[in-house]
Amino acid sequence: MNDGNYNDACSRITLRVNGAAKQLDVSPWTTLLDALREQLHLTGTKKGCDHGQCGACTVLVDGRRINSCLSLAIMRDGAEVTTIEGLAEGQALHPLQQAFIDHDAFQCGYCTPGQICSAVGLIREGRARTPDEIRELMSGNICRCGAYPQIVAAIEQAMGHEEGR
Ligand code: FES
Ligand code: FES
Repeated sequence: MNDGNYNDACSRITLRVNGAAKQLDVSPWTTLLDALREQLHLTGTKKGCDHGQCGACTVLVDGRRINSCLSLAIMRDGAEVTTIEGLAEGQALHPLQQAFIDHDAFQCGYCTPGQICSAVGLIREGRARTPDEIRELMSGNICRCGAYPQIVAAIEQAMGHEEGR
């Protein structure tokens, strides 16, 4: 039973974040999003709704896209986490990052890290073949600026579907 000393409730976990092992002391209620932003200072991952409704917090865990606000860090002990900071290789942008620039697929940019991480997961899933399927399978990522046409075009480019447009 917890007698009110919340420090006693912390657990040490290890995450492999963007290729580097990180040890963290987390409370049972610490979300993966807060662990990334506040303990590892990876603030590229955004907090929008904090309730699983906007997708701004999307990261890749063991290669799959998830809303990090809905996942407790302690549940991810040992996992491989990729955030927007981990997508580029040195100075070379990830093809999706380049495609978002090429298509002006953002305005304020707040949703963009989540959109790009989600799109990485989408392409890996291999289920989207058409713009409608991209829209449907990206529907968990809200863009309040309404950059959806450009976002879909950027994802199509990254999927290698640009020819014939
Ligand atoms: Fe996680 Fe909105 S902040 S879904
Ligand atoms: Fe502003 Fe998407 S670019 S919310």
